[in-house]
Amino acid sequence: MHPDYDHLQQAAKDHLWLHFARHGAYADGDVPVIVRGEGVHLYDATGKRYLDGLAGLFVSQLGHGRTELAEAAAKQAQELAFMPLWSYAHPPAIELAEKVASYAPGDLDRVFFTSGGGEAVETAWKLAKNYFKLTGRPMKHKVVSRSIAYHGTTQGALSITGLPLLKQQFEPLVPSTFRVPNTNAYRADEITAGYLDGASDPEAFGRWAADQIAVAIENEGPDTVAAVFLEPVQNAGGCFPPPPGYFQRVREICDEYDVLLVSDEVICAFGRLGHMFGADRYGYQPDIITCAKGITSGYAPLGAMIASDRLMEPFLEDKAMFAHGYTFGGHPVSTAVGLRNLQLFEEERVLENVRDNEATFRATLERLLDLPIVGDVRGDGYFYGIELVKDKATKESFTAEESERILYGFVSKQLYAEGLYCRADDRGDPVVQLAPPLVCGLEHFEEMEQILRVVLDKASSLL
Ligand SMILES: Cc1ncc(COP(=O)(O)O)c(C=O)c1O
Repeated sequence: MHPDYDHLQQAAKDHLWLHFARHGAYADGDVPVIVRGEGVHLYDATGKRYLDGLAGLFVSQLGHGRTELAEAAAKQAQELAFMPLWSYAHPPAIELAEKVASYAPGDLDRVFFTSGGGEAVETAWKLAKNYFKLTGRPMKHKVVSRSIAYHGTTQGALSITGLPLLKQQFEPLVPSTFRVPNTNAYRADEITAGYLDGASDPEAFGRWAADQIAVAIENEGPDTVAAVFLEPVQNAGGCFPPPPGYFQRVREICDEYDVLLVSDEVICAFGRLGHMFGADRYGYQPDIITCAKGITSGYAPLGAMIASDRLMEPFLEDKAMFAHGYTFGGHPVSTAVGLRNLQLFEEERVLENVRDNEATFRATLERLLDLPIVGDVRGDGYFYGIELVKDKATKESFTAEESERILYGFVSKQLYAEGLYCRADDRGDPVVQLAPPLVCGLEHFEEMEQILRVVLDKASSLL
């Protein structure tokens, strides 16, 4: 038990405003307080251990308690704790930009650092608008994104987000964004109104879904559309990998209409899918990548927008300037940590670990399909969603009341009580999301499956 437990509880309730949290839920109970991390485990203030099934929030790629990363941060803080990137440079930002550019696909050579993912999304949209203004297509400013996709909470990023319930309290948001269908193959028949079945013909579904982007661009007017924002694997909704050929068709459409393809890899970059970037895994060339989270494994906050050389060209001329920046974007400590993090990726063959183990991870989670409540297990790499259903044969989903009672009231709490930190989410259909540290192996997959089995089995009986 933490020596200051009671005080921590009271002060948390009195002063700390948690993110995306129902504070009312803590009125009669304790706030979960995590005090320590070690390897793939977290420890709370009572001393209880949890398997970190979500890498914090898709962040802790190398796991917790890594002295190499703590030391890199301390060393940099002593050397140069702060210097902005506003017209000045510092070695860790230069070296990390070089390293990230060396991994990024094709001519994505220009790295603009931010403090996190939402800022990277904002930056990408602003760059797209600015680029087209400077190159004689000033009307190109709109953004296409996918239904249920999450791209952040700042007003621009939230505008690109495809979750109406998350947006409604903050309307009006930034105008000029439009939604297209996502690639939820499990529900392809619903999405295409019975026209296609994602399971029997994934290529046709992928082609159809990509073509909806062309339809949206045509409807809006191609001379007004600047960019399409897509995650390699869409997180919200519970892991929708791209059907085969999807991104190749999207690339063709973007080329045809002169629209920038932004790969929002805030979750998918830095090993989550067994590659440095999701674009590599699925073999497509974006114009911009947005990333954050795993770039430092969470030992310091950092995000980045990686742009193609072509997009920076107009800003290299004469007095041109991208009038955009953040005080803490590319912070010396964060970039030093990012650099060390990526060195450790290489030294410890982290990408290879994910690639070697991902089939086992999938197979272990797929065992859960024998439970009546588990409708679908989907994902790639170390990134999975488990969709819960009321009726497996019809794929009938929970009602709002069932979601509240079963997903929030039972599954979410019980997984944590059983020692698995992960996320139950109903921003789309109800899902449990799993994205463990990339250093996990078979024993951790087994532990996740066992806890999920116990909890989901009991949840079935509550339907
Ligand atoms: C795809 C995607 N884009 C953007 C964001 C926003 O990132 P941040 O919370 O660092 O602002 C997230 C956060 O989870 C994300 O998943």
